[in-house]
Amino acid sequence: MKKYITFFFLFSLSLYGFVTALSQSLPAGLPEDISGYNNWTKINKKTIRPRFNDPHRGYKKVYVNQETSILRDSKTKKLLFPYPEGTIIVKAVRITPKANSNITLISIMRKKSGNETTGGWDFIEYTMSSSDNSFIPINFSKESCYACHQGASNSDSVWTKFDNFRK
Ligand code: HEC
Repeated sequence: MKKYITFFFLFSLSLYGFVTALSQSLPAGLPEDISGYNNWTKINKKTIRPRFNDPHRGYKKVYVNQETSILRDSKTKKLLFPYPEGTIIVKAVRITPKANSNITLISIMRKKSGNETTGGWDFIEYTMSSSDNSFIPINFSKESCYACHQGASNSDSVWTKFDNFRK
């Protein structure tokens, strides 16, 4: 009997490991620190749709690795800028609106020291290569990203307006 219990225990454990590994699996080429980003706080409630002069063309969802309680004042409910050190913002872009279609572009902003000339943010973007669906970083400097993002200076260089607050 004891043997079966041990077996069952080990079996459940490996099943659990397998399932968590699956749910956290990141496509090859993307950095580990954004693992599970699609479970983070979503900034935009509605998918951002392609538009004329779209800087990152496609259907977009934007996520942040912070709880809304950290990002806004509990009394006034106003956003507290700047975003704290360690903040990571991920924008996932699809070319079609279908929820299960491939994400072809991942844009990342990381709040970390050493980026004083680019608003405190490090910028990097990855595209999916058509050959094997892995991601590769695009050749675009963080200064060029910031040149446009600094236009959102009222919201700490983040363009997407927060409209998806959780309590
Ligand atoms: C020409 C302007 C422009 C350039 C250049 C640009 N972006 Fe953006 N970015 C935007 C706009 C506008 C948004 C708002 C959402 C949208 O419509 O795509 C945005 C959204 C984002 C977001 C989601 C957070 C936010 O600010 O809304 C990330 C992350 C991001 N961009 C990363 C990058 C990176 C990395 C680069 C450089 C490789 C870059 N961007 C270059 C205009 C730009």
